[in-house]
Amino acid sequence: MSGEPELPGLPGATPEGRAALGLLLTRYSMSAKYLGAPGPTDEELWTMAMAALRAPDHEKRIPFRFAVARGEALERLAALFVDYGGRHGKAGADLDKERAKALEAPVAIAVIARINPADDVVPAHEQWTTVGGAIANAVNALHFMGYGAKMVAGARAADPAIVAAHCREGETLVGWISAGTPRAPAKARGEVDPGCVLGAF
Ligand SMILES: Cc1cc2nc3c(=O)[nH]c(=O)nc-3n(C[C@H](O)[C@H](O)[C@H](O)COP(=O)(O)O)c2cc1C
Repeated sequence: MSGEPELPGLPGATPEGRAALGLLLTRYSMSAKYLGAPGPTDEELWTMAMAALRAPDHEKRIPFRFAVARGEALERLAALFVDYGGRHGKAGADLDKERAKALEAPVAIAVIARINPADDVVPAHEQWTTVGGAIANAVNALHFMGYGAKMVAGARAADPAIVAAHCREGETLVGWISAGTPRAPAKARGEVDPGCVLGAF
């Protein structure tokens, strides 16, 4: 129940498929505090978006978009976090921590959902499922390219001022994918027995 997952026999797997599965099964989230420069390049983020667009998506509604912050844009995100902290009774060193929180990883990728609740073919829960698949494919693609990443949300993602800075009418700020170069090897999490999710009908 812990340590690196073991690949079973997989007699049908190609060598490439086996290697890809090996990588997939060793994707662990990495907190922003363990992520340093360099972050993914524009070309690598393009590849990440291609992977996200491979998520299962009924009628190809594409119910998500990404907004990338680095450099000056990360400073704007930091200012929003400081403003958030100030409105929640923080001052001094605690506001510095708010700022540092936004600047920890070299790239913050806002995940913005575009769910149409009035869609009469693809219900909202299917659109949300695609958003989750896109996030999973995005963090996996970053991992495959050698980057660490972690999806985070929390209270800041629900703050009206922070939401307004990211979203257009009808959109939802899901949170941010922090991405960068791992400062340490990822720690394997306790593995969950697949038998607890795999059963017979
Ligand atoms: C939409 C979404 C929001 C999340 N928000 C947070 C968060 O705010 N803080 C956090 O520690 N983990 C959050 N997580 C969970 C982490 O991204 C991560 O999956 C978790 O720490 C387990 O690590 P693992 O991916 O290595 O299994 C969120 C995950 C999702 C899908």
